[in-house]
Amino acid sequence: MVNQPWWRNAVIYQVYVRSFADGNGDGAGDLFGLLDHLEYIASLGVDGIWLNPCYPSPQMDHGYDVSDYFDIEPAYGDLEIFDHLMMRANKLGLRILMDVVPNHCSDQHAWFTEAVAAGRGSRERERFWFREGQGVDGELPPNNWKAVFGGGAWSRITEPDGSPGQWYLHTFTPWQPDFNWLNEDVVDYFDRMLRFWFDRGVDGFRVDAVTVVGKHPDLPNAPDTPAGMTEMAAWASNPYTLFWPSAHDIWRHWREVIDQYERDNPIRELVTVAEAYTPGRPDLLLKFVEPDQFHQSFTFDLLLSPWNAQSFHKTAAKSYRSLHASGSSITWALNNHDVHRVVTRYGRTDAHLTSSWTGNNLVNSDASVDLEMGHRRARAAALLILGLPGAVYLYMGEELGLPEVLDIPDSARQDPIFARTEGREKGRDGCRVPMPWTSGSANLNGFSTSTSVEAWMPQPAGWGEMSVEVQEQLGDSMLNLYRQALQLRPRLVDEGKDIEFVGDGADGLFSFTRGSCAVIVNTSADFVEIPATLTDNRSVILESVQGATTNRDGSKLLAGNTAVWLG
Ligand code: GLC
Repeated sequence: MVNQPWWRNAVIYQVYVRSFADGNGDGAGDLFGLLDHLEYIASLGVDGIWLNPCYPSPQMDHGYDVSDYFDIEPAYGDLEIFDHLMMRANKLGLRILMDVVPNHCSDQHAWFTEAVAAGRGSRERERFWFREGQGVDGELPPNNWKAVFGGGAWSRITEPDGSPGQWYLHTFTPWQPDFNWLNEDVVDYFDRMLRFWFDRGVDGFRVDAVTVVGKHPDLPNAPDTPAGMTEMAAWASNPYTLFWPSAHDIWRHWREVIDQYERDNPIRELVTVAEAYTPGRPDLLLKFVEPDQFHQSFTFDLLLSPWNAQSFHKTAAKSYRSLHASGSSITWALNNHDVHRVVTRYGRTDAHLTSSWTGNNLVNSDASVDLEMGHRRARAAALLILGLPGAVYLYMGEELGLPEVLDIPDSARQDPIFARTEGREKGRDGCRVPMPWTSGSANLNGFSTSTSVEAWMPQPAGWGEMSVEVQEQLGDSMLNLYRQALQLRPRLVDEGKDIEFVGDGADGLFSFTRGSCAVIVNTSADFVEIPATLTDNRSVILESVQGATTNRDGSKLLAGNTAVWLG
């Protein structure tokens, strides 16, 4: 096989630093804690780590409000510990990806405070989107754009002389002012930022919120939305920012910077992975992974799909075909720090019904949850995602089968979505609850080095029963299933052959072959016969639960809500 860049089939483990391990005893995760648990990550058999933003930040959106792109958040460590972490990770064979947030910074970023101080018409204000308001005294926002996390997309500042002043645009929250990418200072700043971290050894970046970075330069009003539409849906129907094409000039420029860096440093192989939700539109996704833009983009349609073989065929097969034809590296995830954990999503009693599913279900749903079923399906989903060709991103705790914590008291909620929607949307805290490492409740189930501190987000009762310590002892734990699958995955990857999807899912099976191997997922509740074309000359490599397959009358049956790798 032709030598391929390391990232094309890589498995990357996502670390939400705040929730992974607390090494300095303040109740929140940090780089010290991560350092202490690097061996664990390496022991899973993954290729690298993606760190959610760990730059200095007031943490209004837990790091996605960056106040300095060239340093480490003091509560998490410093550059010295970061360098140490890089070195240790590399020794263990792990690559490190950072997270870059190009759309906006924190309102505490020096550029923003300087812009407010510098006044109207200044060069400093040009780096953002400052505009006069409408109405007699400019008391109304410059246009009708909505923010992703609720409310309007504009906030008004007070001018240095104390008078009510201009408005600035923020696609997310008022604490996250949008950069104006038509401004050369912004372009230069991020060029320097990318090189700064590459020079420290970082192997690439996950690139945040790429679909909103472009903006119509005149910022016209968005078309009216029907009454009763959720904030998120209203925001997503604004054609003057979502997928606005000017952003692609930036990504092309970044690719030149990165390609040049690689030419100057021939041993380096760098990667960028775009966060681009393009529901049902692989054609839009393709625009981000043209050869002169991102190396990868998450294929979120699989994550957005219900537990339904027909839907998997429509989403995974469709995405795969279009991305494969383009030569792009296909990149899958079932979890991340923004969506309800898969055990809970698939545990919803209506999770298999295409019609009952909405994107909203990912962060906010009242459907009842059967956790046992959710776990069984999540085990099968592990074989599904790790069986697909391409790269896979796993989210910390996914390997433990952690569920979404749904009953966080409102008083403990920290996600700005909760406050900005006045509680209408619960937000994403439930997938960010600190990891359980040990079964004892002292030290927050091993999360913290302190025995007296409270976790930044409370762990529910019984959390320790799902800990790493407990699962390492259980042969059939979720953790051991992930370890086994990761160990056996090269057998599928090494095939290097084109994938073929089999059937259309109407029988409840989502199946595909990869050369001599086959991956079969049964999303129905009952036993289903596996077609002979898939079983002939193949035996079981791995089952999602022991005994998932049985032989009856010369054929092989697969139990409901399970998966198998054959080869
Ligand atoms: C992305 C991040 C999310 C963050 C948002 C704003 O969607 O994944 O966590 O809140 O961008 O930066």
